[in-house]
Amino acid sequence: MNILQINASARREGANSTRIADAIVTRLRAANPGARLTLRDLAVTPQPVLDEAALGALFTPAEQRSEAQAARVALDDALIAEVQAADVIVLGVPMYNFGTPTQLKAWIDAIARAGVTFRYTEKGPEGLLTGKKVYLALARGGLYRDTPADTQAAWLKTVLGFLGLTDIEFVYAEGLALGAEAARKGLAEAEAQIEAIAG
Ligand SMILES: Cc1cc2nc3c(=O)[nH]c(=O)nc-3n(C[C@H](O)[C@H](O)[C@H](O)COP(=O)(O)O)c2cc1C
Repeated sequence: MNILQINASARREGANSTRIADAIVTRLRAANPGARLTLRDLAVTPQPVLDEAALGALFTPAEQRSEAQAARVALDDALIAEVQAADVIVLGVPMYNFGTPTQLKAWIDAIARAGVTFRYTEKGPEGLLTGKKVYLALARGGLYRDTPADTQAAWLKTVLGFLGLTDIEFVYAEGLALGAEAARKGLAEAEAQIEAIAG
C-alpha cells in the first residue's frame, strides 16, 4: 500500500490538521505494516500558484517549452506522479476563511490536468484518478460540519470527485477556537472517528 500524506496548513509546527492527518496515517500503517509513506508538507515545499507564466507553460507543447517553462511544468508533474502512485491519500486541511489554504488550492491546480487526471468525453467529464481512498482531516476553529456554511467540504468533495477520487472519508476536528473545553471535545471526536477507520 502506498500512502500519500499532504499537509496543507501554513504552519510547519503545531498544526491541528497535520496532527489529525498523522494520526490517520499511524492508524493505516498499524493495519498495513508494509505500507509506504510519501509525505508532502506544503508549508515546506509550497507549490507555486497557477499564474499567467504557469498557464503559458502548460499550454505550450512540451517540445517548444523554454527551460523555465519545462521546469514549471515538472513541478506539477511531480505532484501528479505522487497522486497516481498512491493507493491512499491523506489530506490535512485547515479551514481558512471558509475555504482551504492557498497552498492546497495550488496543489489541486497542479494535479487537475486535462487528459491526465481527468478527461472530457461525449458523456461528460471523467475522473482518471480512480481506485484510491481519500481521508480528509479537517481542522476548524468553529463548527460548520453539515451546515450550508461548510462550502469547504462541499468543494473538496466536488473537485476530488471530478478527478475520480470519489471514495472519501471525512474526519472533522471542529470548535478548536471556541475555548479549551470545546477544543478538547473537537480533538476527541476526531480521534474517535480515526479509531473507527477500518484501515
Ligand atoms: C488565516 C486563518 C483563517 C481561518 N479561518 C477560519 C474559518 O473561516 N473558519 C473556521 O472555523 N476557522 C478558521 N480558522 C481557524 C483554523 O481553522 C484553526 O485554527 C485550525 O486549527 C487551523 O489549522 P492548523 O491547526 O492545521 O494550522 C482560521 C485560521 C487562520 C489562521
